Amino acid sequence: MSTALIVLAAGQGTRMNSDLPKVLHQLGGAPLFAHAVWSGRALEPERVALVTGHGSEDVAKAAAALDIEADIVVQDERLGTGHAVAQAREALAGFEGDAVVLYGDTPFISSETLTAMQDARASFDVAILGFHAAHPGRYGRLVVNDGTLEKIVEYKDATDAERAITLCNSGVVMASGSVLLDLVTAIGNDNAAGEYYLTDIVEIANARGLKCTAVTCDEAETLGINTRAELAAAEAIFQENARTDALANGVTLTAPDTVFFSHDTHIGRDTIVEANVIFAPGVTVEFGATIRAFSHLEGCHVATGATIGPYARLRPGAEIGDGARVGNFVEVKNATLAEGAKANHLTYLGDATVGKGANIGAGTITCNYNGVDKFRTEIGEHAFIGSDTMLIAPVRVGDEAMTASGSVVTKDVPDGGLALGRADQVTKPGAGRRLMEMYRKAKAKRQKAAE
Ligand code: UD1
Ligand code: CA
Repeated sequence: MSTALIVLAAGQGTRMNSDLPKVLHQLGGAPLFAHAVWSGRALEPERVALVTGHGSEDVAKAAAALDIEADIVVQDERLGTGHAVAQAREALAGFEGDAVVLYGDTPFISSETLTAMQDARASFDVAILGFHAAHPGRYGRLVVNDGTLEKIVEYKDATDAERAITLCNSGVVMASGSVLLDLVTAIGNDNAAGEYYLTDIVEIANARGLKCTAVTCDEAETLGINTRAELAAAEAIFQENARTDALANGVTLTAPDTVFFSHDTHIGRDTIVEANVIFAPGVTVEFGATIRAFSHLEGCHVATGATIGPYARLRPGAEIGDGARVGNFVEVKNATLAEGAKANHLTYLGDATVGKGANIGAGTITCNYNGVDKFRTEIGEHAFIGSDTMLIAPVRVGDEAMTASGSVVTKDVPDGGLALGRADQVTKPGAGRRLMEMYRKAKAKRQKAAE
């Protein structure tokens, strides 16, 4: 059975106290709505309709940036969840299969739960996802009798007896797309909130002789985000899950609570990650690497056996080869270090290619930017870059070539060549001691004058 996702993401997020649409706030390095869409991946959706409101264009841009193929639907007026689902009608035109309603601010619905709903659909027309709430508060309540879901009552409209029910509505719905759209057409807005409640479809379906059921999941999955505090709590949960997964996948984390992951971080077996490491989006680390303390990685690839840090920064486009080393206070951006290359201390490598086994001395900088354009630096295999070399790109240092410490290298160095690009040293015997004497006397004179 093919599936379509309808993701409601029109929330203004007033309680976030933000200019950003709520669903663009980040969790694990990706906007909230993306987590909702990705939670539906298990169903291999054929179509995704993203119902947006405020900031629709920005949501569309964010979706495109993440390669999320979705029909961006705009709900101009926020008239309720039932009205929001009805906006997906055009996006679902000609679609024959099941539609699932998810929420852009609810990132943790699991694939197991969605599969359980799919299973329930074999015997029921409408499956609603519920949960047993520790504190039911203002959630809608599921009224179940004899295994049949009779109706959902919103808290505002519920009787005291109904409010005593602890089985609550998550909002997630699964039904045939055409049935769902038929049902939402029949919804009215005669209720305490004056809204078109999606939840009304259950009573309408029952009246039409369709069968409805409640599937339950853990309350934690239904966590929705309305405030910055809830966003922070969700981030903590996301990180906790990511740490648990990394450990289960054979990654050593010496201080798990201090390591932060993104939604797409991949780390191979037997890699060791020390304390206080941040994996921003787009990082892959192969097996058997070591990421030492206080390192920040983003948009990069670290090959087997490489060592990063402590205190290293890998920026987008950093490609660190087998067994290569990037040490303390080294920044790498859009640069490749081939197998066994080393940049151990205080270095900037930007827009560069570093050959196999090359050694980059402390304080080396690839001067890649003239204020307008960027240029590349090429460093050959087994080259030796002396400490404090400034490489003025575009420039190439050949295989097995050397640069003298303190050189400013402006011209290509051929294979096996040596570049000496610094002023000749002048040495004056005895002059050091005389100069020191002079300074001491001058200081003593100043002190005396001040007395
Ligand atoms: C809804 C459910 C309630 C359930 C709760 C779970 C209804 C009528 N009630 O209540 O039973 O317990 O969620 O959190 O469905 N949205 C739109 N357009 C709209 C209205 C809402 O896109 O016109 C989106 C919101 O951005 C939000 C979601 O739908 O993500 C839920 O809407 P909200 O108004 O928060 O519904 P609740 O009152 O929480
Ligand atoms: Ca809500």
